[in-house]
Amino acid sequence: MENKPRLVFSTGAGVSAESGISTFRDSGGLWEQYDVMEVASSEGYHKNPALIHRFYNARRRQAANAAPNNAHLGIARLENKFDVYVITQNVDNLHERAGSTNVTHLHGRLDYVQACDNPELVYKVDDIETGTSVDTVIDGHRVRPHIVFFGEPVPEFENALRIVRQADIFVIIGTSLSVYPAASLLHYVRPGIPVYYIDPQPSADVPHNVRVIAKPATEGVEELINILTHE
Ligand code: OAD
Repeated sequence: MENKPRLVFSTGAGVSAESGISTFRDSGGLWEQYDVMEVASSEGYHKNPALIHRFYNARRRQAANAAPNNAHLGIARLENKFDVYVITQNVDNLHERAGSTNVTHLHGRLDYVQACDNPELVYKVDDIETGTSVDTVIDGHRVRPHIVFFGEPVPEFENALRIVRQADIFVIIGTSLSVYPAASLLHYVRPGIPVYYIDPQPSADVPHNVRVIAKPATEGVEELINILTHE
């Protein structure tokens, strides 16, 4: 059987920016319009759960109306030549809708909710238009968005580490590398493997061996595909 090289992507909000989904920390980003502690922390959830339901209902509708861009599509097509894994901080499902078959969501998923009394019980949100509220009950459980709030553990991190440690090529796209533990993934790659970072305004906080492609995701992925298929 053919042994394809393992190509691992670590993506953030920037990979979905050209699909019209706002990033968090860019100018005009979500954290300029909302207080992150109110809508994305466990304290915020306990203080005002109704606000959190409304916030994620709106984001779920926005994501459902967005389409994968050429960066998501290019990553999915690379499965022809590589054993591709996508680890994403994003809560949209644009990688899956582009055709990627192996996606790990570090910070949860907008299209799911979880039982308030058991985070391991997750349910798909059927009615994207209406969404959920503090009164939504599924299988006898009140539910909340399936989002990892600040202050909560990141259950998929161990799984992500296992994938990153076996990468032959590692590619970071569209993240400010400011949220941990996601930002630390790059430090777990095997020494000497090629590491790329596609972002028009890349964080300066990366090791010197990282090859920076300072371009938007769609152009950067096109360039990456040229490099990977001609090197
Ligand atoms: P940020 O908003 O912190 O960073 C977005 C990155 O995308 C920046 O480095 C931008 O330069 C880059 N960017 C903007 N447009 C781009 C484009 N067209 N192509 C490529 N890159 C582009 O978003 P994240 O790093 O993903 O967590 O944020 C990490 C986490 O912080 C999120 O998952 C979210 C947030 O709080 C939770 O809500 C749990």
